[in-house]
Order: sequence, then C-alpha cells, then structure tokens
Amino acid sequence: MERKLRDAGIVSLSTAVPPRVLTNADMERLFDTSDEWIRSRTGIRERHIADPEVACSDLATEAARKALERAHLAPDQVDLVIVATVTPDHYVPSAACLVQDRLGATRAAAFDLNAACPGFIYGVTVARQFVAAGTYDTVVVVGCEVLSRVADPQDRGTYVLFGDAAGAAVVRPVSPGRGILASVLGSDGSGAPHLIIPAGGSRRPASSETVEKREHYLRMNGPEVFRFAVRVMEESSLQVLERCGLNKEDIDLLVPHQANIRIIESARKRLGLPPEKVIVNVDRYGNTSSASIPIALEEALSQGRLHDGDLVVGVAFGAGLTWGSVAMRWGS
Ligand SMILES: CC(C)(COP(=O)(O)OP(=O)(O)OC[C@H]1O[C@@H](n2cnc3c(N)ncnc32)[C@H](O)[C@@H]1OP(=O)(O)O)[C@@H](O)C(=O)NCCC(=O)NCCS
Repeated sequence: MERKLRDAGIVSLSTAVPPRVLTNADMERLFDTSDEWIRSRTGIRERHIADPEVACSDLATEAARKALERAHLAPDQVDLVIVATVTPDHYVPSAACLVQDRLGATRAAAFDLNAACPGFIYGVTVARQFVAAGTYDTVVVVGCEVLSRVADPQDRGTYVLFGDAAGAAVVRPVSPGRGILASVLGSDGSGAPHLIIPAGGSRRPASSETVEKREHYLRMNGPEVFRFAVRVMEESSLQVLERCGLNKEDIDLLVPHQANIRIIESARKRLGLPPEKVIVNVDRYGNTSSASIPIALEEALSQGRLHDGDLVVGVAFGAGLTWGSVAMRWGS
C-alpha cells in the first residue's frame, strides 16, 4: 500500500547577528583597498564580525532558541537539530550537539551538515524528508558561520567578502499545498580547488608549516567561482520550478545567496524578475555563507515582503562546489 507523505515547511524563522560592524572604511584601514572597489565589485558596504569569544554554536543557539519561541514550541519538542556550517566550534563534536545541549532539546538527534553556502537549502531539504515521511515532527535547521575565523586577515581578495551570522528555521508539518514543494541539490567536486581551506583536515593536518604558509585560511579563485555561480543560480532556479510544474513568471520572491550583487543581478535579469521580487541585503551583511538565505528570508518576512501563499524560490552556490534551490509555497 502506498504511504501518504506529509507536506512540510518552514513555520518560523529567526536570526542571530553579532553587533560589531566592520565597514568598508574599516577595511581601508586594514588593506590596500577602497570602499569604491569593494562596492563596485561586490555590493558590500559592511559586514558583522563576531567578537573573539563567540563561536558558531553561540550564534546558532541564539537563533534556534528564538525560532522555537516564535513557533511556540518547547525545546523538548524538537526531534532533530541540523546545523549547516563550514565553521563549527570544533571538528569533534558537532556544533549541532552543542546547540542541542544548550537549547535543552533533550529528545533531539543532532548533526552538522557541510554543504557550504547552500547548506541551509540542503538542511531544510533533509528536514523535509524526515517530516514528510512522518519520522519526525519538529526539526530545527540552522545556517551558521563565523567565516571571519577562516578568512585570511592578510588577504584583501577574500577578507572583505565575508561576514558572521546565524539564521534558524523550524520545519514542521503544514497544510496541504503549503511548505516545501521541491528542491534541487547539486555538486561538482572537480571544482574543489576553487574554494578551499587547504590544511587542518586529514589530507594536510595542522602543523607549524601549514600555519606559516597560511594554509588554514580560505583560498578562492574568484573569477572561476563567479562564472560557476552565474550559471547555476539561473539553471537551478529553473530546474526547481520545473519540478513543481511552475514557470519563472510564477515566482513571487527570489531569495538568492548573498555573495555578490553582480551575481544576484545577473540571476535576476536572466530570470526576468523585477527588483522588487528579489531580496538583497549583501550590502549590510556580506557573504554569510549558510546563514545568508535564512537571514534574507527572515528580513523579507519582517519587512512584510512575504505573504501567505507566495511562491518563494531560494537558490545558492558554494564551496564543493555545491549548489541548491528550494521552491516553497509560503504559509503553514
Ligand atoms: C572576488 C571578486 C569580487 C573579485 O572581482 P573580480 O572583478 O573578479 O576581480 P579580480 O579577481 O579579477 O581582481 C582584480 C584585481 O583586484 C585586486 N583586488 C582583489 N581584492 C581587492 C580588494 N579588496 N581591494 C582592491 N583590489 C582588490 C586583485 O588583486 C586584482 O588585481 P590585479 O589585476 O592587479 O591582479 C569576484 O571574482 C567574485 O565575487 N567572485 C565570486 C566569489 C564568491 O562569491 N565567493 C564565495 C562563494 S560562496
């Protein structure tokens, strides 16, 4: 007998953003760079940077706790905590276990998910499977990064791009026709060298030599990632629409990964969308990797730009290389 799957979707959202702001003027004091260069190449004006004592699980716990409160759920109702991150507190244990403990989510399973910037899209897609199958009722998905810890403070080419933040969502059963309609997840590991932290893992364990060579910091081939991003942002958005039998004209709100205004604009134009249908906040946060989509979604919601019944498409690209898109009928 065929078993009916449940509709599942995001029922609440929250964010945690460190209060300290580094503006482009601050970057001018650190590097041979200019506000004009940063704004014209990336659209970024400022980014939030965590204080030294703040780690991934601190921001993730704050965002998750607020998301649960907004959904009027107690921590012991949580079945699973997923933290999408490439900057966990430690390699072992997972950041998700630390969040589970600090939330008091005593019944919950917990794991980290490393899919780089599309991590939140991967995370809600995994959460949807558990909820749709009836395995779990309440999954907390957090996209959280402290990228300032892995961006090289001596490399103007990467350091100016990134910011720290967390965004959390609660995924639960929703009314028929609402919630996550479809996802597209992709990867191409042949592009791994384009965005990589060379040392500190089992390939090249940390040593005084790796530290001296600054191999524990992120290295990026910017133009290569740019080309890849422009291609997959459009392709993946169209594919996810096709999976739900919808067209680009049906999009009410596009929530693109906030890495670079030129990448966002190119996706917007290729999809034929007017500016008011695209969320942009890269100017104020920089690239917060897996936190970028939930922060943008939450901002859209709090600004009244997201309405019950809207078709929302989230789309992202990142290290791996990875990409992902999700189509949601907003509402619960
Ligand atoms: C990084 C990025 C903004 C660079 O823009 P670009 O137009 O491709 O610039 P280039 O890499 O060609 O660099 C142009 C010059 O600017 C210089 N430059 C780099 N960073 C600079 C900075 N912060 N300030 C001033 N000059 C800078 C470079 O050294 C280079 O100088 P050169 O020509 O003398 O060698 C762009 O490639 C990009 O956004 N790529 C995608 C990155 C991304 O999204 N990564 C995250 C993935 S999740």
